[in-house]
Amino acid sequence: MATIVNGDVKDLALATVGHQRIVWAERDMPVLRAIRERFEVEKPLAGLRMSACLHVTAETANLARTLVAGGADLVLVASNPLSTQDDVAASLVEDFHIPVFAIKGEDEASYYRHIAAALKHRPHVTMDDGADLVSAMIFIALGRLDDLHSEVRTWAKNLSAAERAGLAGDVIASMEETTTGVIRLRAMEKDGVLKLPVIAVNDAETKHFFDNRYGTGQSTIDGVIRATDMLLAGRNVVVCGYGWCGKGVAMRARGLGAHVIVTEVDPIRALEAAMDGFQVKEIHAAAKVGDLFITVTGNIHVIRGEHFAVMKDGAMICNSGHFNVELALDDLAKQSATINKYVREFVDEYVQSDGRRLYVLGEGRLINLAAAHGHPASVMDMSFAAQALATEWSIKNKGQLEHRVYNVPKAVDQWVASLKLQTMGIAIDTLTEEQQKYLVSWEMGT
Ligand SMILES: NC(=O)c1ccc[n+]([C@@H]2O[C@H](COP(=O)([O-])OP(=O)(O)OC[C@H]3O[C@@H](n4cnc5c(N)ncnc54)[C@H](O)[C@@H]3O)[C@@H](O)[C@H]2O)c1
Repeated sequence: MATIVNGDVKDLALATVGHQRIVWAERDMPVLRAIRERFEVEKPLAGLRMSACLHVTAETANLARTLVAGGADLVLVASNPLSTQDDVAASLVEDFHIPVFAIKGEDEASYYRHIAAALKHRPHVTMDDGADLVSAMIFIALGRLDDLHSEVRTWAKNLSAAERAGLAGDVIASMEETTTGVIRLRAMEKDGVLKLPVIAVNDAETKHFFDNRYGTGQSTIDGVIRATDMLLAGRNVVVCGYGWCGKGVAMRARGLGAHVIVTEVDPIRALEAAMDGFQVKEIHAAAKVGDLFITVTGNIHVIRGEHFAVMKDGAMICNSGHFNVELALDDLAKQSATINKYVREFVDEYVQSDGRRLYVLGEGRLINLAAAHGHPASVMDMSFAAQALATEWSIKNKGQLEHRVYNVPKAVDQWVASLKLQTMGIAIDTLTEEQQKYLVSWEMGT
């Protein structure tokens, strides 16, 4: 039933460079490599069609190799129009014979045509980064074809009612990689429309403690510097959102000598930021003094027209949250006298009627993937180990999972952390028998 496809990538001639980058990333992914070696022998995913909608990077390529080593018949599509590494996509097709549908800078129609390719594969298991694949399946299952992008709707229209229901119904489980995706999927569960089991890989401790904080922290700053060449020392950097990603971005910006200002809506997180030594301000106040703005909230329109209106000449504005909705760019466009696109790669200039020039980086899409290479391999090693093991766990539990959002089993988290420590040459203590007993007793006091 699966469609035989080779994919849609920019240029297969880029494969040699892509192959080098995949191999380079693999050096820093020992945990995932250990899983791949076991999967090659045990083939836990044999006979399964899988569709993955992920950022197509060198690290994702190593996850794809692991899933294929486990026996999966995999199709990979982009989870963001600007995050694809074209050389990696080419190598996956050319060297690893994995169909990939992803081109950096693809327009919305191509993005959704690629999502349709992932659906046409009729997957038994899906992987999402932002829930675009599952949400398309749910709209189809609910018969809400008008809510689909026309590229998906055109295909879905020709399916019978049984095929539409079967699309989600055949899914054993779906893995979700990011905070925004988990939020969307939990909302589906709450509304009673989630028609397949989901594993919230993002919520594994070995994922968000490290990937969201240290991965997004480092690579976001990397993206800003590559896009602008700006010096952060002495600058006012406004970080909107002090969640896992925001903590990492704020920490790394401070490390480079920036004065970091945090904006928040959650009083506990705001307090945490204040006690971590950052200034905390309302966005309206921060907007007047910031040299660089980075949103990482997972929320919509965090920086809006009234904030752009008071920003300093030369302010740089970017986003590292999942969707390009955190900056109200329509507001900015409306109140600009002139817009100069691509004044340099990944930088658009918005000239205001009073002469101020504001710069938007990476079109408001996640800057760490648009202008840099995304998270370092070492951190994706853990996230993708959790993805591969969560997939294996869901297959072992096939038929027993309900249509709800599950956490990654604690044992998977512990295994990933232990092996990562081992590969880093770090040994830790184990509880003595006396300590184990003490920790579950109540009799002993002062
Ligand atoms: N760039 C990347 O590679 C990458 C990696 C991981 C996650 N993400 C995405 O980054 C976003 C944040 O993820 P997270 O794990 O840090 O989430 P989180 O839930 O831990 O943190 C988000 C924070 O933003 C705050 N917030 C919400 N609305 C706000 C507003 N209007 N103003 C200020 N603060 C506000 C929340 O109170 C919360 O503290 C999500 O969209 C996630 O999917 C991106």
